[in-house]
Amino acid sequence: MIETEIAIKQPDEKEYEQVLQLVKDFWLENSNMKPEQFRVISDNGRVLAFARMKEYVDATELGTLGVVKDLRGKGYGSKIVQHLLDGAKGDIYVITTLFKFNANLGFVLVDKYPESIKQKMEMCARHYHIDEPYFVMKWEKKDI
Ligand SMILES: CC(C)(COP(=O)(O)OP(=O)(O)OC[C@H]1O[C@@H](n2cnc3c(N)ncnc32)[C@H](O)[C@@H]1OP(=O)(O)O)[C@@H](O)C(=O)NCCC(=O)NCCS
Repeated sequence: MIETEIAIKQPDEKEYEQVLQLVKDFWLENSNMKPEQFRVISDNGRVLAFARMKEYVDATELGTLGVVKDLRGKGYGSKIVQHLLDGAKGDIYVITTLFKFNANLGFVLVDKYPESIKQKMEMCARHYHIDEPYFVMKWEKKDI
């Protein structure tokens, strides 16, 4: 678990260069990436974790999520996603193979989703083929 308070912020130029390299190294989905879509956890300029929110006309998607290999399993991935959910203005979709990670954060499996998410899932299945199937999960923003 993470013991000290950590800052989550938009990457500066040097941090964004690391994000680009890590996205490449981890073979993550990289279409139309822009620095302002991302949030990072960094330690003295070293990016430890990153994630992005992508806006479509009909949906918001959380994706391009990664934690550096030596720090996985310590809560950084959950922390950065929770931060993005805390600031979310509406419902969030994720296209994923990781049920437990996303379910822990309040996402539920859905079989109906906006057209942009459907197209994105088809693109992932074509270009980011892995053995496990992709599915869509949704996090619903609660009205307070
Ligand atoms: C997926 C990823 C971002 C998770 O980040 P993390 O910091 O390691 O995850 P956390 O420590 O917050 O884990 C939270 C929970 O998810 C589970 N989990 C995390 N990664 C998992 C994985 N690859 N497979 C199955 N479960 C996983 C953990 O077991 C943990 O559950 P627990 O607390 O009940 O044991 C990280 O493993 C990673 O960068 N993977 C490679 C890139 C990737 O797959 N990105 C997601 C696709 S966009």
